[in-house]
Amino acid sequence: MENELQRIREEAQKKLAAMQEECDLNALQQQLFGKAGELTAILRTMGKLGKEERAQLGANVNKLKQELEAAMEERRAEFKRRAQELRFEKEALDVTEAGVSPVAMGHLHPMTKTYRTIRDALIGMGFQVFDGPEIELDDNNFTLLNLPLDHPARDMQDTFYINDKVLLRTHTSPCEIRALQNFKPPFRFLMPGRVFRVDEVDASHSPVFMQIEGFVVDKNLNLANLKGTLDAFIRAVFGENVKTRLRPSYFPFTEPSAELDMSCTICGGKGCRVCKGTGWIEILGCGMTNPHELENCGLDPKEWSAFAFGVGVDRVTSLKYGISDIRYEYENDARFLTQF
Ligand code: DAH
Repeated sequence: MENELQRIREEAQKKLAAMQEECDLNALQQQLFGKAGELTAILRTMGKLGKEERAQLGANVNKLKQELEAAMEERRAEFKRRAQELRFEKEALDVTEAGVSPVAMGHLHPMTKTYRTIRDALIGMGFQVFDGPEIELDDNNFTLLNLPLDHPARDMQDTFYINDKVLLRTHTSPCEIRALQNFKPPFRFLMPGRVFRVDEVDASHSPVFMQIEGFVVDKNLNLANLKGTLDAFIRAVFGENVKTRLRPSYFPFTEPSAELDMSCTICGGKGCRVCKGTGWIEILGCGMTNPHELENCGLDPKEWSAFAFGVGVDRVTSLKYGISDIRYEYENDARFLTQF
């Protein structure tokens, strides 16, 4: 019987040493101590033994049982430790590794870029930003700009009226009135903002769009000052090679009035579909401020002179980036915007 116990001990030790997985421990447990286990079988034979022999065998079996259970426990602990190590290895984080941002970075809207380029060029020439309200007095939007109630030029713009006296400004020109009423000349202002007109949305119209008004009041200003100022910011947006020209036009608040054309950015002035074969593209309205406007705001036009211009930021953006439909500029479709 002692030999049998020794055999069981050695076999169990061998199995334990070679064991790879924790579940094999349970199998061994069954094999030794289960109902049909080897040690259980030996204990069953004890009834047939004499008293002393029985006590001896009982003690030996118990000793072996404790010994093997301790060994199995040790093995189990080892398996646990190893499993934990593996888990830690798998879950290890290298905190020094460079991160990958899960958030796509945005960038400025093309109209914002255009606006900032124009703004910065003008600020470089001593302009300051002046902000006027979107809801305006009819007086500021029309009357004081030399468009009296019965002036035919009022038909040029279809207006969102709030009541007889108040409207959504149709252009940024009423900022000129506010500048004249609130600041002592000389001054140079750029006045950006949203303007509103009753227009159906199409490829070149939007009921809301953005303008920048430029307004300079000083002594002895002339058309050359205006042209030089416009050239500077047109070049800042479109590059040094672009040519400009002033073409006579009419606005009630300027005299003389002009439209600024620039050489076509698509064909370089040779003539193409975009410039309708002329080589020139109309870009903004401008002029020497009408003496009536200065007088309306209490300035003596013999002493003070002024020039002004109004430019559509969406139009400049279309020309700069070759965008054929201004709706793209307002719809904020990411598939469009990510191209810039
Ligand atoms: N206010 C004009 C418009 O919205 C643009 C404009 C033309 C502004 C001539 C001016 C100017 O300051 O001098 O169409």
